[in-house]
Amino acid sequence: MVGCERSGGTCFFSFHVFFPNQCKRVEQGPEKDGLALLLPTRSLYYSSHKTTESDPNKYGSCCLCSPSLIRICPPISLPCSSLFGRGGFSFETSGAMKVTVVSRSGREIIKGGIELKDSATVSDLQDAIHARTKKYHPSRQRLTLPMPPRTQGKPVVLNPKKRLAEYCDGDASSLTVVFKDLGMQVSYSTLFFWEYLGPLIIYPIFYYFPVYKYFGYEGERVTHPVQTYAMYYWCFHYFKRIMETFFVHRFSHATSPLSNVFRNCAYYWTFGTYIAYYVNHPLYTPVSDLQMKIGFGFGLICQVLNFYCHILLRNLRSTDGSGGYQIPRGFLFNIVTCANYTTEIHQWLGFNIAMQTVAGYVFLVVAALIMTNWALAKHRRLKKIFDGKEGRPKYPRRWVILPPFL
Ligand SMILES: NC(=O)c1ccc[n+]([C@@H]2O[C@H](COP(=O)([O-])OP(=O)(O)OC[C@H]3O[C@@H](n4cnc5c(N)ncnc54)[C@H](OP(=O)(O)O)[C@@H]3O)[C@@H](O)[C@H]2O)c1
Repeated sequence: MVGCERSGGTCFFSFHVFFPNQCKRVEQGPEKDGLALLLPTRSLYYSSHKTTESDPNKYGSCCLCSPSLIRICPPISLPCSSLFGRGGFSFETSGAMKVTVVSRSGREIIKGGIELKDSATVSDLQDAIHARTKKYHPSRQRLTLPMPPRTQGKPVVLNPKKRLAEYCDGDASSLTVVFKDLGMQVSYSTLFFWEYLGPLIIYPIFYYFPVYKYFGYEGERVTHPVQTYAMYYWCFHYFKRIMETFFVHRFSHATSPLSNVFRNCAYYWTFGTYIAYYVNHPLYTPVSDLQMKIGFGFGLICQVLNFYCHILLRNLRSTDGSGGYQIPRGFLFNIVTCANYTTEIHQWLGFNIAMQTVAGYVFLVVAALIMTNWALAKHRRLKKIFDGKEGRPKYPRRWVILPPFL
């Protein structure tokens, strides 16, 4: 972003070229107020300088970027920190751009490359690839910048909303991108809908229908009240999860690989069947009335709190899912990073206190292990994003998932 402000005989250039989290203030020049910026593929710096009108370009170019690519915009004077999350910077370029699309092994995916306007976005490139290949719908394309030789780490993933010029290394007339086919995709809502639908249907089948005669139990089945409450509790939970999927969550990713539907359904449907079989079994022995009330009471409170956590997470993003990752705040999030997982685990604990089956506890342990693993990664990610440097807020001290242990 370039700003030019004229005041009397002086011209004030204020250059802010930035990528989220990569803006760095350095001491440079007599005013010690420069900005250094590390871009993914090169480093670039510019600073705020006062210079005379007769020589406006004395400091008006940046080191690794051709001055002709820079456009003088209306005056902009923003601190580096306020630019985070807004993404991008303005370049003035002209003409066309040739994009070479290669596989990770370096093989050209689109023979001869693709010609696009230099104002084209990554999304335009994805559409162009789709138009040339048909098989690769934009949702299954992952485009990254090539990794320089002998470098470690993760490549820069191209954001569909950004202009391709923002990823050019000085020369805005050509760009090489690495293409990866993510395979067939489904929307996140579809993925979650199918994984939760299974338990929601399977469980009542064991409760309402005489399925146990197929397992060798011919006698009359006596249904205990606790089994009825468990059925309502269970169905309420999965109905709530489906509703949250469609009306509460604001996902940052549009799609997920189709293979995840089979993997997640296998997990939820199998556990749903396993637990439903034992909880509704004709030989099931109920717990005491008091234990049942404590279990379901505690579990229901946790389900409501879990819903509240999801509302708090939803409010961190705008309606279209943009806004990236923020520091979750409010209620339990003030002490634990993944309060939604904490409440989820405790609501299953409530269910198991009330039902007391081995199957239920096995599910609780497996689910807690999975969520702990995810929570550790989310905690690390938030600490990395909010590192307290260069004007970024510092992630507050918090438990990860299960205070006072983790
Ligand atoms: N029983 C089980 O085995 C099990 C396992 C996992 C989850 N669950 C249940 O399913 C619920 C949802 O699971 P999940 O893994 O999808 O939860 P999650 O990753 O915490 O995400 C919930 C939603 O909040 C968003 N979000 C999370 N942290 C955010 C942040 N710092 N800033 C902005 N947005 C943020 C997520 O965005 P993104 O789209 O970017 O992720 C997502 O849309 C859990 O809360 C839990 O109740 C159950």
